[in-house]
Amino acid sequence: MSTKGNSKNVPAHIAIVMDGNGRWANARGLTRVEGHKAGEIALMRTIDAAIKAGVKYLTVFAFSTENWKRSPEEVKFLMNYNREVIRRRSSELDSWGVKIKWVGRRPKLWPSVIDELKAAEKLTAKNTGTVLTMCVNYGSRIEIVDAINQMRADVASGKLADKPITEKSLGKYLLTKDLPDVDLFIRSSGEQRISNFLLWQSAYAEFVFVDVLWPDFDAEHLNAAIDQYAGRNRRFGGAVDAPKPASKRVGKAQKSGSKG
Ligand code: IPE
Ligand code: IPE
Ligand code: MG
Repeated sequence: MSTKGNSKNVPAHIAIVMDGNGRWANARGLTRVEGHKAGEIALMRTIDAAIKAGVKYLTVFAFSTENWKRSPEEVKFLMNYNREVIRRRSSELDSWGVKIKWVGRRPKLWPSVIDELKAAEKLTAKNTGTVLTMCVNYGSRIEIVDAINQMRADVASGKLADKPITEKSLGKYLLTKDLPDVDLFIRSSGEQRISNFLLWQSAYAEFVFVDVLWPDFDAEHLNAAIDQYAGRNRRFGGAVDAPKPASKRVGKAQKSGSKG
């Protein structure tokens, strides 16, 4: 089941929770960090597949504001690893026309990681291809709380008019202010939860949970998720009244056979 061409309904914005690295490694008798290392290739092939599918925005969850709860060794590995992956892959992504963006909070995040992300943003700033947003030290609830507190501060300093908050005005204070809403939300590893990723932005996203651990995620999985998305009927709360003509109604046999 693969996607052919871009003629069909391709989501403009795909968000991915890249989950399952630790389980992938442990299942092989390896330590969790080996799983993170294997995740780098999966990320690169997913970006490549997203570009080929015509996806304009790809947003990936690399480190959450809750991931600080992990062992000091794993946290340290992930900080170094995030910095090194960005450093290693920036020029390759640049050559693919990718525009790299960082979304996340500054508190606690290693300055060297922020520096590397900022350097990648600068390097790729003029690119017009797929926008790759790396969510590093990101959490959606605190993002919303931060936004409200910043609005309060801006009202106090006279930078913002003291008017009731609207969805639009709050949206401008979110870390994702430059991104459109999420169309397709994918999570690998078989877990079916959001884990505090893009809550506001995914209010009307379509969800696809893929039963494969992140290091094994590939173009086929991405394209299958895009195919599922293309087959969904997004209504955004609206409805279309279209009673079926008699000839197309559910037959008697089907009706009586479907009682549960
Ligand atoms: C996702 O894989 C990567 C990060 C959260 C940084 P995990 O490390 O969560 O792997 P599992 O879910 O424990 O298998
Ligand atoms: C979400 O995965 C965070 C990232 C993929 C970066 P987690 O593995 O941290 O989420 P939970 O703990 O299973 O909910
Ligand atoms: Mg996990």
